[in-house]
Amino acid sequence: MSCFYIFKRKCKRGGNSAPELGATSNRENNSGASTNRAAKSTGSLPSPSARSIPEMYREREGSLRVFSLTELREATNNFNRLLKIGEGGFGSVYKGSIKPADGGDGPPIIVAIKKLNTQGLQGHKQWIAEVQFLGVLDHPNLVKLLGYCAMDGERGIQRLLVYEYMQNKSLEDHLFNRSVPTIPWKRRLSIILGAAQGMAYLHEGLEVQVIYRDFKSSNVLLDKDFNPRLSDFGLAREGPTGNRTHVSTAPVGTRGYAAPEYVETGHLSVKSDIWSFGVVLYEILAGRRTLDRNLPSAEQKLLGWVKQFPVDGKRFSMIMDPRLQNQYSLPAARRIAKLADSCLNKNPKDRPSMSEVVEILKQALEESHMSSSDPTGSPSSLTTPSAPNKPFKRSGDAGTSRQVPRVAKAKG
Ligand SMILES: Nc1ncnc2c1ncn2[C@@H]1O[C@H](COP(=O)(O)OP(=O)(O)OP(=O)(O)O)[C@@H](O)[C@H]1O
Ligand SMILES: [Mg+2]
Repeated sequence: MSCFYIFKRKCKRGGNSAPELGATSNRENNSGASTNRAAKSTGSLPSPSARSIPEMYREREGSLRVFSLTELREATNNFNRLLKIGEGGFGSVYKGSIKPADGGDGPPIIVAIKKLNTQGLQGHKQWIAEVQFLGVLDHPNLVKLLGYCAMDGERGIQRLLVYEYMQNKSLEDHLFNRSVPTIPWKRRLSIILGAAQGMAYLHEGLEVQVIYRDFKSSNVLLDKDFNPRLSDFGLAREGPTGNRTHVSTAPVGTRGYAAPEYVETGHLSVKSDIWSFGVVLYEILAGRRTLDRNLPSAEQKLLGWVKQFPVDGKRFSMIMDPRLQNQYSLPAARRIAKLADSCLNKNPKDRPSMSEVVEILKQALEESHMSSSDPTGSPSSLTTPSAPNKPFKRSGDAGTSRQVPRVAKAKG
């Protein structure tokens, strides 16, 4: 899945290897002229004394490990292609093994190393954002950044990030990649609940509001126990301050997930993340990508297609992923579709908050536990050939799908 990127201004920095941005850089585009940071009476926005992410990052400087390029070359057998585990818009990801931080004789640590393509300043800017946000944020549902490498040499600039390794790839892989086992119903719900808790922390759990801006199934990574962790904070930015409802910025993100008002106007708020969350909820129900060019044209856009099967209608279950083999709770599925619809309200103000989303997902999970005969939610219950119900048949259910192309939205 790819992103579209438009930057209004060029990154003014270049050549420096320390991960620094100006303390106000993330706040330059607060909507309107006012820079008043007084919190609204709702108390939901940052207080006047709230520190910015770069300020918090500076206070914690030293908490991330700084790697040399040589160390990371050794860790990946010189970025051996056989160790490549993924490729995204910013570069390649390798599995590697590093020595423990204390330099002792402890067992090596398995890590994921992302090597950014160094062409283009947005890569550098996003690398800095990733280091600063992940250097500050700390939650069980956010990926752990262990350290970074920044080298500016004769052979150009090198920017790398070293993360805790996530054994079970991404939610995207399990939902859409036919060579990866699918995830059963309750596990899907606990994954999306964990992702929602991570996002609630970003929106509501910090002294600054953090807008993630890139919520999508490929950015929900899964550890060995299928606990979800949100990854990729290169597009994250601080939310509005004072009495502002949004920040204004050139639209960046991933087509198919970005909120319409953000794509149209560049007005960004936490409610843009809520829209993206609604899209992923439907991906989880349907096992279909938000955009899938392999499907008949009427079915390519997931949000358009599901409208034919209203949540309270008799044919609602036609949207459900056939790979679930009918092993799901229909009331819980309806509850989630209703939740998705509210996240996908045209008017951002009508979308729920992330903590409301968390509550509804908890209810859906409880409902599924009550109505389920399989208390474990284990994947084997789906792969058993003797599963009691046959999967629904749906027209145009593609066995494969291809990635959404990187696209840019032209803006003046
Ligand atoms: N910490 C990690 N542990 C294990 N695998 C990872 C880790 N980080 C990334 N990956 C793998 O690398 C793949 C590519 O990740 P990356 O974030 O670069 O791209 P993407 O999310 O697919 O696309 P985009 O660049 O648009 O965000 C992921 O889908 C995942 O399989
Ligand atoms: Mg990603």
